[in-house]
Amino acid sequence: MTVRFKRFFLILVVVLAAGTIRVFGWPWSTDMWKQPSIKPYRMPLRYPEFSVATDGTRLEPLPREEFEKITQNPKRPTAASLENGQRLFNTFCAACHGMDGKGNGPVIKRGFYPMDLTSVGVKGRTDGYIYAYIRYGGKVMMPSYRENVSSEEAWDIVNYVRKLQGKLNNTVEENQ
Ligand code: HEC
Repeated sequence: MTVRFKRFFLILVVVLAAGTIRVFGWPWSTDMWKQPSIKPYRMPLRYPEFSVATDGTRLEPLPREEFEKITQNPKRPTAASLENGQRLFNTFCAACHGMDGKGNGPVIKRGFYPMDLTSVGVKGRTDGYIYAYIRYGGKVMMPSYRENVSSEEAWDIVNYVRKLQGKLNNTVEENQ
């Protein structure tokens, strides 16, 4: 090999290496900042796909029908869950469904037809069906509360709706 060719070959290797580093990212990320997690103060809060909550509750995106199949609320109806559910229900649901869920809230009188959540029909729905109603919205005109009510909060509301329906017995665990 001639000296000239050697030099050319060396330059070629350097150029190719530089190009590779450029394409695949330089400088190497030495911290864990660049990752798909949610950065502080980043709004709106959207969870990366297939996120799982700390208690194992699956978060969307899952098809609505998958939730409707869930018969058992993953959050147990503890005093804390019911208290939270009641607070959220009174904030987001009572305007239409009424404080006791009987479909007699003030908004109903302005054109929405009453939906009694304590009726036999709604009592017979799965826990997941009510959950999906909150997170995905109604099948007729009820809006979605996804932006206001998190996945875990929605399960608390489901517990409270069950309480309004008289479906919870009094043996609710106080702790946990
Ligand atoms: C703006 C009025 C309004 C608000 C607020 C509202 N809903 Fe509804 N809801 C309706 C209407 C109207 C229906 C009748 C069905 C439909 O529109 O999809 C309904 C139906 C339902 C049903 C019955 C589903 C069925 O077919 O068995 C459930 C459960 C329900 N709502 C839960 C809630 C919960 C929980 C909240 C609070 C997070 C809430 N709704 C907030 C208007 C509302």
